[in-house]
Amino acid sequence: MPDPHGPCDTLTFLMAAPDTLKREAPDSLMLTGFWYRALPSEKVRNGELHKAMLLEIPLVIGRDRNRKAFALRDACPHRGMPLSCGRFDGEQLECSYHGWKFDASSGQCRLIPSLTADQNLKIDRIYAGSFACEERDSFVWVFIPDPSPAGAGFTRRDEPQSAVPLVPTFSEKFKTAYLSSAMPSTVDHGIIGLMDPAHGPFVHQAWWWRSQHSIHEKQKNFEPIPNGFRMSAHTPSSNSAPYKLLRLYADADSITTTIDFVLPNLRLETIRAGKYWFSSLTTVTPITRDHCRIDVVACWNIFRLVPFGPSLLKFVFAKFVEQDRRTMELQTEGLKHNPHLMLIDDADRPAKWYFGLKAAHLEAKRAGGEMKHPMSGPVTLNWRS
Ligand code: FES
Ligand SMILES: [Fe+2]
Repeated sequence: MPDPHGPCDTLTFLMAAPDTLKREAPDSLMLTGFWYRALPSEKVRNGELHKAMLLEIPLVIGRDRNRKAFALRDACPHRGMPLSCGRFDGEQLECSYHGWKFDASSGQCRLIPSLTADQNLKIDRIYAGSFACEERDSFVWVFIPDPSPAGAGFTRRDEPQSAVPLVPTFSEKFKTAYLSSAMPSTVDHGIIGLMDPAHGPFVHQAWWWRSQHSIHEKQKNFEPIPNGFRMSAHTPSSNSAPYKLLRLYADADSITTTIDFVLPNLRLETIRAGKYWFSSLTTVTPITRDHCRIDVVACWNIFRLVPFGPSLLKFVFAKFVEQDRRTMELQTEGLKHNPHLMLIDDADRPAKWYFGLKAAHLEAKRAGGEMKHPMSGPVTLNWRS
């Protein structure tokens, strides 16, 4: 294995092609035991059944009569018919193959039409796979548990111990918007693309924004936090989007920003300027081993009274995400035949920490006990972007 602290590490070990990893370590790409964003809330309307995919698990998502969202594995426990093809009365889902009925919120079997009066199969012991499901900040989130041991069968689900991640807010009134973009890449490339500071001047160019010539030297402080790392509070770089907008409202030096990355896939950015604030929670969700989706939910109180504020912000964000998506699409071409890759200091150090965190998390799970954080203390990084 390459020295993780060397200036230039080959990435082949950590980022082998999906099929190599499939053979060597089936869950090294996608982490179970976490909440993931499944679908935007507004897409899940009463009475409808929606298909979704998370970590290669097909799901059917809907709302019961009380508008509470639910998620079941989209495969009947009898003979695998997708439950999304069945009928739903607001409480129970009926499989379209043999009419078995399941409680939407618990997955518990309620009826097997083929049973005669003297056949005493205990149907309440049969469950369709059911997942904890909550709505937060414009999204339906689903908890993907660790896989149960082979042969465990279909049982009642365990409730998750962790809470659904939230977008932090700092005033009673604020606006919110979300954005989603499907990326043709592994969750790892999606995440390290998101935390990579060096691509900005080359990928995110626009006449109204910045050019390669605005590139300059930067110094940022990082510190370890539970399950992740933080870019400590600092004045945002003068060529960052929210900073340019916020400068219209507040003194340049009163503006501070903090960016956290937390496993498995969360990037939290908070910008504060006096009573004004802007925060966002971006997630990179593994859909399959080679596809992911980026969802950004932002909340802010800065443009509440400006008619074009929210649409302007959405426009800027959509442009950014589209530039990233297009880049990843092209990168996927280059990655097809498993080239050797490298991570360099200091610009790729956050990416190294990400792989370090992931490996430490998996190791703690395997061996039991506390996770050993890859950072031993605060670190200052320098790069040009
Ligand atoms: S496959 Fe669903 S009831 Fe038979
Ligand atoms: Fe980007």
